[in-house]
Amino acid sequence: MSVPGRHLPSRVYLILGVVCSAALAAVAWKGRTYYALPVPERPLHEAHSALRSSGLLGLPFGIAGYALIILNLGYLLRRGYVHWKWMGSLRAWMSFHVFTGIVGALLVLLHSAFLARSPMGIIASVSLWIVVLTGIVGRFIYAHVPRSVQGQELELSELTRELEEKRRALLEKGVGVQAAQGAAPTPHRGVAAALTAMVEGDRAAAREYEELSRMVMASPELAAAAGEILPLAKRFVKEKQWLSRYEELRDLMGLWRFFHRWFAIVMLAVALCHVLVATGLGGLRTGMP
Ligand code: HEM
Repeated sequence: MSVPGRHLPSRVYLILGVVCSAALAAVAWKGRTYYALPVPERPLHEAHSALRSSGLLGLPFGIAGYALIILNLGYLLRRGYVHWKWMGSLRAWMSFHVFTGIVGALLVLLHSAFLARSPMGIIASVSLWIVVLTGIVGRFIYAHVPRSVQGQELELSELTRELEEKRRALLEKGVGVQAAQGAAPTPHRGVAAALTAMVEGDRAAAREYEELSRMVMASPELAAAAGEILPLAKRFVKEKQWLSRYEELRDLMGLWRFFHRWFAIVMLAVALCHVLVATGLGGLRTGMP
């Protein structure tokens, strides 16, 4: 049985993500007078040679964005095919997936110079932003799907066992908590209702944890062991919520995955065509603006 501690890789990617996004936002702000111009007037701007898609900055932005989006798929390899422990936990790879997805998309936005003119460019940009937006919603649902501390999805039997182990461990430390109910059958309600139920579940878990921690801190013997009891209690209330909505959460994740996956496939296919056209036929060889 394990209880989560602070997750260093997620913090590192979060900090890196914020720093990179801020740097890219600064570039966009600095070039605002250029990006705001209509296409025919752009070549007259002094920043045109740097900021146009094939420019001194615009092109490296595109290459780096594309590379990050390809690297982004490393999460899928780690999840499905590569099970070496030294490669880090799935949780760390998920943080990498989010980091590369968001920073990659921002780089592509700067590479496009905030314009998508060709039909292929429009399809690739729209799919990319749908993938990023569904990704953000999905990351929220992902956090609610039963997982081990390392990030592997838990089967119902594993989750039930984990919960029971935590209940016993808490009891041994002198904290009696109610045994969890089994998984409820999937209620057939809409996505919005399921998401709302998820938020309510978070609130219920936070309330239960607050009550438990108040009780622990009120007793001198328990308070002395609070450092061990409270992380256990936190994980216990979270897993209890997971168990009570087990099927609904897994169904929601499955439905969401369908959209994220298919828009990702469309975006990657169109982006690949765009790269082939640009390097073979487009401005990079002909030197067009
Ligand atoms: C922009 C490039 C991105 C691409 C190409 C991409 C692609 C994918 C693909 C193909 C999957 C697998 C879906 C499946 O299981 O069938 C996936 C999973 C996922 N992605 Fe993304 N994604 C991107 C960005 C993002 C971003 C920005 C986020 C969050 C902010 C995100 C969050 C997720 C989550 C939560 C999963 C589910 C993982 C799991 O259940 O194991 N993605 N992504």
